[in-house]
Amino acid sequence: MNPQTKIVVFGATGKVGTHFVEQALQVGYQVRAFARNRAKLSQAVADKIEILEGDALNSADVERAVADVDVVVSCLGGTGKRLIMQTAYNNIMTAAAKQPHPPRCIMISSVGLGGTSWLIKFMLTLIAGKGAIADFEKADRRIREETAVPFVLVRPYALTDKPGNGRYRATQKQNATFMQPIPRADVARFMVDAVADRQWDGKLGVQLGGKK
Ligand SMILES: NC(=O)c1ccc[n+]([C@@H]2O[C@H](COP(=O)([O-])OP(=O)(O)OC[C@H]3O[C@@H](n4cnc5c(N)ncnc54)[C@H](OP(=O)(O)O)[C@@H]3O)[C@@H](O)[C@H]2O)c1
Repeated sequence: MNPQTKIVVFGATGKVGTHFVEQALQVGYQVRAFARNRAKLSQAVADKIEILEGDALNSADVERAVADVDVVVSCLGGTGKRLIMQTAYNNIMTAAAKQPHPPRCIMISSVGLGGTSWLIKFMLTLIAGKGAIADFEKADRRIREETAVPFVLVRPYALTDKPGNGRYRATQKQNATFMQPIPRADVARFMVDAVADRQWDGKLGVQLGGKK
């Protein structure tokens, strides 16, 4: 771990994002939070990080956020029926590719995509809806097609708000979904670990599940 590592976090006010920011600070990383509304960040956290207000759907906002960082982390998610993933992830990857030294991008996606069985994808479509899955799928494809930017695609199984235990199961094998719900805190732990651990970089994406 290099404490000089500077990370911009998209979705820093969300459930996974809040855990990520807290854990990244504990490890000692420098954190820039990208948020639509800075008031959603706790004062204790806000005092320790740089905050950039903006909208992930606005490419100029995203370019400002991605400038001068070593790592981009996205914990973004659509709110209500708003589908944001394709546009937001295109903005992030485009901005990252433009940097003189493109940052590594650690991006949350979903189980049910690339390398997951058709049955899980079918179940997910019933739960989340066709539109949301199609949006995630396009975002996922945009990331995998990027050649100028190293990336980790994180595909967690069902998220829970239970306390984390710092453990997870992760694999890049095809069709190897772990059907074990995972606390959001442990998804964040995986993403923090991935900042220093390059074993998960690559096109296939990482299937992630909980571990007792
Ligand atoms: N539920 C599951 O079982 C499951 C499984 C696998 C993957 N996932 C995915 O995991 C991701 C994280 O989940 P979560 O529960 O942490 O989500 P969440 O709490 O809803 O957080 C979403 C974050 O995205 C931000 N955001 C939304 N639109 C934005 C925009 N236009 N510009 C900037 N920020 C924007 C939100 O900001 P505001 O605070 O301003 O709204 C929030 O910080 C989601 O993509 C989710 O679909 C979920």
